[in-house]
Amino acid sequence: MPGDYQLFLEDSSPVNLDSTIERTLAYHQQTKHHLQRYARSPGYLDWATQPDPFRTYVGAPRIELDLRADQVTSSYGDLFRTGVIPPQPIGVETIGILFELSLGLSAWKQYQGSRWALRCNPSSGNLHPTEGYLIVPELPGLTEGVYHYVSRDHCLERRCLLSPMAHDRLTAVLSPNRFLVGLSSIHWREAWKYGERAFRYCQHDVGHAIASVRFAAAALGWSARLLDAPGDVDVTALLGLDRDADFADVAAADREHPDVLLLVSKKGTGPICRNGPEGASHKLDLSPFLPSWQGRANPLSPQHVDWPIIDEVAQATWKPATEPMETVEPAALPPLILSSQAAAATLIRQRRSCLALDGTTSISAETFYRMLDSLLPRPGVPPWDTLPWAPLLHLGLFVHRVRGLTPGLYLLERDAAVHEKLRPALRDVFLWKRPANCPEHLRLWCLAESDLRDASRMVSCHQEIASDGAFSLGMLAVFGDTIRQRGPWWYRRLFWESGVLGQVLYLEAEAAGIRSTGIGCYFDDVFHDILGIQSDAFQCLYHFTVGGPVDDDRLTTLVPYFHMERKMPDPQESPYLAP
Ligand SMILES: Cc1cc2nc3c(=O)[nH]c(=O)nc-3n(C[C@H](O)[C@H](O)[C@H](O)COP(=O)(O)O)c2cc1C
Repeated sequence: MPGDYQLFLEDSSPVNLDSTIERTLAYHQQTKHHLQRYARSPGYLDWATQPDPFRTYVGAPRIELDLRADQVTSSYGDLFRTGVIPPQPIGVETIGILFELSLGLSAWKQYQGSRWALRCNPSSGNLHPTEGYLIVPELPGLTEGVYHYVSRDHCLERRCLLSPMAHDRLTAVLSPNRFLVGLSSIHWREAWKYGERAFRYCQHDVGHAIASVRFAAAALGWSARLLDAPGDVDVTALLGLDRDADFADVAAADREHPDVLLLVSKKGTGPICRNGPEGASHKLDLSPFLPSWQGRANPLSPQHVDWPIIDEVAQATWKPATEPMETVEPAALPPLILSSQAAAATLIRQRRSCLALDGTTSISAETFYRMLDSLLPRPGVPPWDTLPWAPLLHLGLFVHRVRGLTPGLYLLERDAAVHEKLRPALRDVFLWKRPANCPEHLRLWCLAESDLRDASRMVSCHQEIASDGAFSLGMLAVFGDTIRQRGPWWYRRLFWESGVLGQVLYLEAEAAGIRSTGIGCYFDDVFHDILGIQSDAFQCLYHFTVGGPVDDDRLTTLVPYFHMERKMPDPQESPYLAP
């Protein structure tokens, strides 16, 4: 329990857990948007200091990756059907596809004199704080080592060769059939625009990136799992983020914060076994065995603004190494109803945020239920098999235009166990009525029947996309107890779960022929008030909207890698065709 023990940060100085919990909760409180006052931010965009969205390690050897995603023929619907997509061999070509379909560019947009890149993973303000890494054993076409991925150039920069000692220590985790993807965040990229609330957005983006990697792995027939055990010190050392000499050219704000390691495997995911790779992963202390690094990080901004509260919450939510948690295997549910048979690689790359919704498009109840159903964990089904914990986020939904459903306020419980705590936390006037024809396993409740378009727009910082769609929602986390009982680093994990939810909604909307958008700007306590929430037992972490898009025809769209002369492999020679 908090207070009974101490944890140790990077410099091994003892830290009182109670104070880190308090600092985490205080950060959350301080960065709420209120109707009368937004969380502290610069309030304007200082274009002269806009951070470079692309990190590179100058001088590191580069491995150019082919653009092969077009050769992946797995359908979107098949991603959710265990064992249907044959596992592809792990090699440089397929790893290239994994990055192309997860963190790679999906398009360039152009307007008048400006051009900006979009990626398969979305990001608040398109600022992209998330960096991606690869840690591989010796593979055809790749030397064993630690690599940084550059999405703009679709290449890997080799930061470090694994020494034989490091390799020996990693064999419990790595093998020709397994490798690691690491993620880190540059908080400054978001803070430049959003100020103090930026730490939240960075965590959302990590969640989106986790799900992006999981879906790309699924398209190749692979699995991916979040490694629960390693501490942030270990992730830092493995990704080379603590190498002061390599960051000598950059300001402290341009450095990266460790986030997560994902174990990508040719085999499917089963329950975590303490004697298996995840069990060994808490002993990842590799820093003495990674001697030779190459490359120097590029500076991102000529000047920076300090947001001390972000550094404080980053320190307070620093994760110590822990024993790996046992996976909570979800209960078996009826299989998801069949979804779009469009190519997964096409849907993943066509995912876009909608800038405006038409205020007229409705969806069928069947489509709505399928979308909600895909947010429930099922054994071995992506992306929920990536997270080893039972769902901690539930949805408060504003239903506007779902045929067969009365407009109003609805609630989706993603885990039945939450009901006995959630129901008493909400207003006692609520109806708790099950919608007719709702699949029995989907714990969807109608709380109030009403036209809530004005309320939903207002609560999402007056953004019309929240009221002009088929539905919008807020994600309610089991908050205070999770952070107090499991540790402050769960603050980040709660946001990651919200980002994973968001990524599913993005893809599900594309599959249904409509569009969606993540909404990080919302008035926290106004949403809580609508539901009647009065304590930190539940807190809203992310909003989302889904509906019929209105395209902005002033923008020109360019294909993702038009700027590179990279040979496209002949599709006839491709070994990556799922039958
Ligand atoms: C965490 C998060 C929060 C976001 N918040 C908003 C928002 O409040 N309003 C909005 O219009 N778009 C929002 N977006 C959408 C982003 O602006 C969009 O993802 C980004 O411009 C990249 O475009 P893309 O999603 O089409 O790749 C958000 C996206 C994310 C991932």
